[in-house]
Amino acid sequence: MVARVAALRVWLGEFLDYASFSDFPFAPAIREALDGLAYNAPTPIQRASIAPQLAGRDIVGIAATGSGKTAAYGLPLLHAILAAPRRPAARTCRALVLAPTRELALQIVSSLRGFAGGWPLRACLVTGGLPRRRQIAQLEVGVDIVVATPGRLIDLMRAHAIGLQATRHLVIDEADRMLDLGFLATVRRIVADLAPERQTVMFSATMPPAVVALANQLLRDPLRVEAPAEREAGPRVAAWAEMVSLSQKPRRLLAIVNAPKTTSAIVFCRTRQLTEWVHRALQRAGVPAGVMHGGRRQDERARTLERFRNGRLSVLVATDLMARGIHVDGVSHVINYDLPDDPETYVHRAGRTGRAGASGTAVTLCAPSEIGKLRAVEREIGRALLPEMCRACMPPTRRKRRRGASGDPPCTFRLPDEAAVSPPPPPAAPRAPATPPRQPPAAPDG
Ligand SMILES: Nc1ncnc2c1ncn2[C@@H]1O[C@H](COP(=O)(O)OP(=O)(O)OP(=O)(O)O)[C@@H](O)[C@H]1O
Ligand SMILES: [Mg+2]
Repeated sequence: MVARVAALRVWLGEFLDYASFSDFPFAPAIREALDGLAYNAPTPIQRASIAPQLAGRDIVGIAATGSGKTAAYGLPLLHAILAAPRRPAARTCRALVLAPTRELALQIVSSLRGFAGGWPLRACLVTGGLPRRRQIAQLEVGVDIVVATPGRLIDLMRAHAIGLQATRHLVIDEADRMLDLGFLATVRRIVADLAPERQTVMFSATMPPAVVALANQLLRDPLRVEAPAEREAGPRVAAWAEMVSLSQKPRRLLAIVNAPKTTSAIVFCRTRQLTEWVHRALQRAGVPAGVMHGGRRQDERARTLERFRNGRLSVLVATDLMARGIHVDGVSHVINYDLPDDPETYVHRAGRTGRAGASGTAVTLCAPSEIGKLRAVEREIGRALLPEMCRACMPPTRRKRRRGASGDPPCTFRLPDEAAVSPPPPPAAPRAPATPPRQPPAAPDG
């Protein structure tokens, strides 16, 4: 009877607005958990996507960074598990969540535990960098949800520590990243093992058309749910770019991280090598900074993220390992020390600030050689990042150069907000190279 009422409410949901979480027919444990989490009302993506998921639809969900996509898939997933509680068979899981990085997988597990409240959820984290034997032991008895990065999951599937034939729910978070070339083959192998009669949902803040076409091969009659932009709230992230030569970047970075308004900042670099170099430069200048990239040991990575989360580090220098999905409260600034290779990554980097209704600032330091990448980002986000005055100091185009236009004066323009920044202290006695290392093409960092 309860199930029928729930089904009816979901069907009626087509005509309801879902302004409150009590409009959803969630299991009591989830309702209690939501009260405890002080989630007052569903966010637009939650309002639009929870009901169709409860009705069993496959979903492609697209919504801005920090808009609550984890709860958008996590709540209906948990409801499906709690509504029919049963002990999973040995070495199986009822649901699988895939994520691109270990840090994000861990964050998802803890969010799911939070949404389950007091219910004893059997969730297993399956990622590299953690003892394999402990994960095998946890899977041995069967679990409700596995949250995994693809590499370790495939490894444990090959070792027969886990089989996916009984898995009826698949979530692919950061779907466009999971379906790009770095992960696609592994994800396909994992999906091939799943039961065909399953529910598959995918979420991301960016979804290029080529990825949608690929996603459609893994989904069954999917519903595309795109959360309406919260226009009335205005842009939450003040974002701009500055033309800075490569050799000026360290000084400018220091000025931004030392500005009074910069309370907590993530500095993104494309490569591990540059990340280390920038980290050392900040440390020498007395900035409490940490570093995160795929070349660091997992326990170091976890410790650094924890110290950044609890405010003991005010700056985190990171590769794009940190760009996807990671939520840290109160990040005031994102600084792009360089431009990412693909414009979607810019969206995710900038999305580490201004989350869950907060405001933030994203500054991009653009060298003349990076102008092409900046233009691609501007096309992706649909607006200019470089102020008009800076455009005037851009390097002359080839045609202008042929006509004899003069060279490349250093840009002195500062946005009003940044004008107050005190002049940067001179960099401390440099033992490290005076200019950043040359940049090889960025490899996936995990
Ligand atoms: N309905 C809600 N009310 C209040 N806070 C919420 C609500 N839903 C989610 N949040 C909070 O918003 C923050 C961001 O959520 P989440 O990490 O799920 O965003 P996201 O859309 O997945 O972002 P990203 O694209 O970066 O992965 C979290 O702190 C989460 O607890
Ligand atoms: Mg997310």
